[in-house]
Amino acid sequence: MSTGAYSAAYQRSLQDPDGFWGEAARAVEWSTPPARVLDSDRPPFHRWFAGGRLNTCFNALDRHVRDGRGDQPAIHYDSPVTGTRRTLTYAGLLEEVATFAGALASLGVGKGDRVVVYMPMVPEAVVAMLACARIGAVHSVVFGGFAPAELAARIEDARPVVVLAASCGIEPSRVVEYKPLLDAALDRSSHKPQAVVVLQREQARAAVGERDTDWEELDWAELVSDAEPADCVDVEATDPLYILYTSGTTGRPKGIVRDNGGHAVALRWSMTNVFGIDPGDTWFTASDVGWVVGHSYIVYAPLLTGATSVLYEGKPVGTPDAGAFWRVVSDYGVKAMFTAPTAYRAIKRDDPEGALMAGYDLSTLETVFLAGERLDPDTWEWATLRLGVPVVDNWWQTETGWPIAANLRGLEPMPIKPGSPTVPVPGYAVEVLGEAGRPMPAGEEGAICIRLPLPPGTLPTLWGDDDRYVAGYLSAFDGYYLTGDGGFLDEDGYLFVMGRTDDVLNVAGHRLSTGSIEAALAGHPAVAECAVIGVHDELKGQVPRALVVLKAGVDRGSADAVAAELRQRVRDEVGAIASLQRVDVVAALPKTRSGKILRKTMREMADGLPAKVPGTIEDASVLETLAPVLAPPP
Ligand code: COA
Ligand code: AMP
Repeated sequence: MSTGAYSAAYQRSLQDPDGFWGEAARAVEWSTPPARVLDSDRPPFHRWFAGGRLNTCFNALDRHVRDGRGDQPAIHYDSPVTGTRRTLTYAGLLEEVATFAGALASLGVGKGDRVVVYMPMVPEAVVAMLACARIGAVHSVVFGGFAPAELAARIEDARPVVVLAASCGIEPSRVVEYKPLLDAALDRSSHKPQAVVVLQREQARAAVGERDTDWEELDWAELVSDAEPADCVDVEATDPLYILYTSGTTGRPKGIVRDNGGHAVALRWSMTNVFGIDPGDTWFTASDVGWVVGHSYIVYAPLLTGATSVLYEGKPVGTPDAGAFWRVVSDYGVKAMFTAPTAYRAIKRDDPEGALMAGYDLSTLETVFLAGERLDPDTWEWATLRLGVPVVDNWWQTETGWPIAANLRGLEPMPIKPGSPTVPVPGYAVEVLGEAGRPMPAGEEGAICIRLPLPPGTLPTLWGDDDRYVAGYLSAFDGYYLTGDGGFLDEDGYLFVMGRTDDVLNVAGHRLSTGSIEAALAGHPAVAECAVIGVHDELKGQVPRALVVLKAGVDRGSADAVAAELRQRVRDEVGAIASLQRVDVVAALPKTRSGKILRKTMREMADGLPAKVPGTIEDASVLETLAPVLAPPP
């Protein structure tokens, strides 16, 4: 265990949070410095920097231009799927953002109004996010891989004044037209925006303004050509910057709220202390702006730091090959990169010897950070050996917005133990709890919890639903936030995260809900009931499997046809990213006497683990019948 800088910072962050975060807050520019650091007047709700006023866009752009970084690249947009590259300097990005902020204002968007952004990895997505921040509007970015039902659920909950969309996203195998997906989502949603603005991309232009709608449909370029630049609007530190929906166990997504003040302070602190990135450094996060990793480490943290961020519209493999990341590192002189382990597994599968690395100058690369799912020791070892730089796991979630556990490369690098994201990050009082909140001894697994208050930048609540926030996260153990992950702390204080203890899925680093996949399946007229479980997958970490009981009277001979329709249904409703391949039609599902489906038991059987069968099982013979169906391939 460290006795140096890490230990001192960690202890101080918990014993003197006002002093620790008050100091960190000096790296952010405030129009009114906060009157307080931690406000715990209304537990279990804790707020940071109450009374402080600032603008996040000002801190991400204007202040850097003012301080002489105007000509430094803010974003390198690199898009192998379109064959395009474009560098936006801080001054150039500021100009685009100010103009688009003016365009949004001209549509009546003001402080506190929501704007849904349904766009792929193009610079305009970043422009849209920062433009909202500039005028105090609240963005909610929806990942482009989500299909209409998921998009509709988010529109319904966020109630946006405006929806911003691109005409299409580009997958290596096909062009995905967004406008029909958005139209279908708006048809489903009872909430309608006042306007939809479409960014036209040449790969598939969208029909704009041709439908008979209650809202205006506008062309992005035309709207911008008439716009006057807008200035930054000060907001309270505790005002929302964005809502990012994430999957729970039910089909209804949870609107994670991020505030302005705590977020700016925490992300700026993390960029240097966790990731070792300083102003002027070049940083590459291969993720998507639709996920929290994209929000925090493609957009906000690097820009709040005055670093340069690579915005990569491509894949780890296939665009054109498994050397794509190395090409980006060498083209832009990347100091550190961040992605999901699944991306490295894909590269390892296609180029096991790392032969493609040889063609590129990787001398600038100092560290690789991986997060979003468990980093298996094999992948860690492969990457470490092939790249010859530290490969650093870090564990966190949409809810926290920045790492809970990490090896803090800027503050004090520590020895790496494969399979562990290292230690709790300053600000996070991580404890592993067992039954009745009993702390588990070192080495023994339990529920990973964080003693309240959570540090700045983490969720203060769920959008419009304090009760769900308390019920879902704060009720299992009094005074603790329940992460939903299980794991243990070892005798050196290293944390090992073993996986979700609930039914949340993690497919190729994408967080998905069993509930929304089940809702899509249950909508099929032949389905009586169904269950979705996540099972181990070599490439994607986990993939869903569905078990389906057909309604009485449906011909069992049509099972294959129904299974094919169900797979398509999940693609159409949830999105292709759900990656549902295997659908088994079965006679019955195992349940407890109170009717709860035994998903965990089935998951254990499917992964070839010893399955725990609860004593409350209604009919044990159902599981026996399912055993051959669930058994993992030999
Ligand atoms: N828009 C529309 N469709 C999308 C999409 C998007 N943004 N992203 C993925 N999809 C589609 C894919 O085209 C694919 O469709 P298909 O079934 O018709 O082929 C499907 O969703 C599954 O995609 P994916 O999970 O990406 O699997 P893959 O086999 O195409 O690629 C990897 C595998 C490992 C290369 C890929 O998952 C990857 O790059 N993962 C990194 C994950 C990541 O960055 N996560 C962010 C969290 S840090
Ligand atoms: P998301 O909210 O999409 O970032 O997903 C968060 C979930 O992904 C966590 O609750 C974990 O289950 C999983 N996860 C993220 N990072 C890691 C990691 N480094 N190790 C293990 N699991 C992780």
